[in-house]
Amino acid sequence: MNVKYQIILCIILITFCITSLSAERNKIGKGKFEAYNGYRYTEAKSLDDANGMKLFLNRNRERKPPAHDTPASACSCKCGERNDESRIVGGNTAMINSYPWMARLSYFNRFYCGGSLINDRYVLTAAHCVKGFMWFMIKVTFGEHDRCDDSIRPETRFVLRAISQKFSYSNFDNDMALLRLNDRVPITDHIRPICLPSNKAETYVGKSGVATGWGTVREDGKPSCVLREVDVPVISNQDCIAKTNYTAKMITDNMMCAGYPGVGQKDSCQGDSGGPLIVERSDKRYEIMGIVSWGNGCARPSFPGVYTRVTRYLDWIHENAKDGCFCNK
Ligand code: ARG
Repeated sequence: MNVKYQIILCIILITFCITSLSAERNKIGKGKFEAYNGYRYTEAKSLDDANGMKLFLNRNRERKPPAHDTPASACSCKCGERNDESRIVGGNTAMINSYPWMARLSYFNRFYCGGSLINDRYVLTAAHCVKGFMWFMIKVTFGEHDRCDDSIRPETRFVLRAISQKFSYSNFDNDMALLRLNDRVPITDHIRPICLPSNKAETYVGKSGVATGWGTVREDGKPSCVLREVDVPVISNQDCIAKTNYTAKMITDNMMCAGYPGVGQKDSCQGDSGGPLIVERSDKRYEIMGIVSWGNGCARPSFPGVYTRVTRYLDWIHENAKDGCFCNK
């Protein structure tokens, strides 16, 4: 074939590709919900999802840095209040909406991690739930109990920015990330932020923590449909090294252990990552002391769960989440 024919063939091929691509785009939009993510149309489960994604995409197109310099005024709400009227491995099913700060993270519409709402715009999670992920495909849902119940449309947001520190997969040090959501979350009876600790020096040793999540109910099991909770006491870092099979190198000052050394049976597990380890304060409200991070297996007697120590990051969290509005009470 001579060069002239080759060029003509190429032009025909390119024209064909362009027309069929645009036809494909026009087809989408009838009876289905989707949003264009910059690369391709993505099907959303609901109109809310699609709107959320479009909103995110439009905002993203503006390419403006987050308005960090304009701190939002405080919101009139109380953080850390559980809904008790109605109140993992070895834990129990949680009462519906008893942990209103609980966020569920999905990637390409599949559940994979937990998180906690800390103000109306930011979710605290584990760095290993965002590192290496395409943040724009992470969906964050709130006010949920049974994640398998399709009849319920949860409050849905997308991630505009995932902020983390020097996280390393080699030892899981600094396993903490903040997710800036595409839009503020309404603070209601079912959706409310968890309190952040106020005392940086608090070690929580001996305190009883509650870990919550939709993670697997046993090692190598399936993730739970309903939100579960488990009580685990906090162990000092010293004991976590002396009384378990973890070594001093594995447990850094940015971590805390919780569980039952020598006993096991109760623990967080795969899928609970990023979710909170909370503790009740003297005023009966709850603050977040840990983030589910890692463990050798789940609920093994010689390996308790390891959590990111939130008190080590208080300044960093306040600095990076200041354009969200924190509860004033
Ligand atoms: N890394 C796990 C996740 O991604 C969490 C493991 C917690 N393990 C434990 N034994 N507490 O979901």
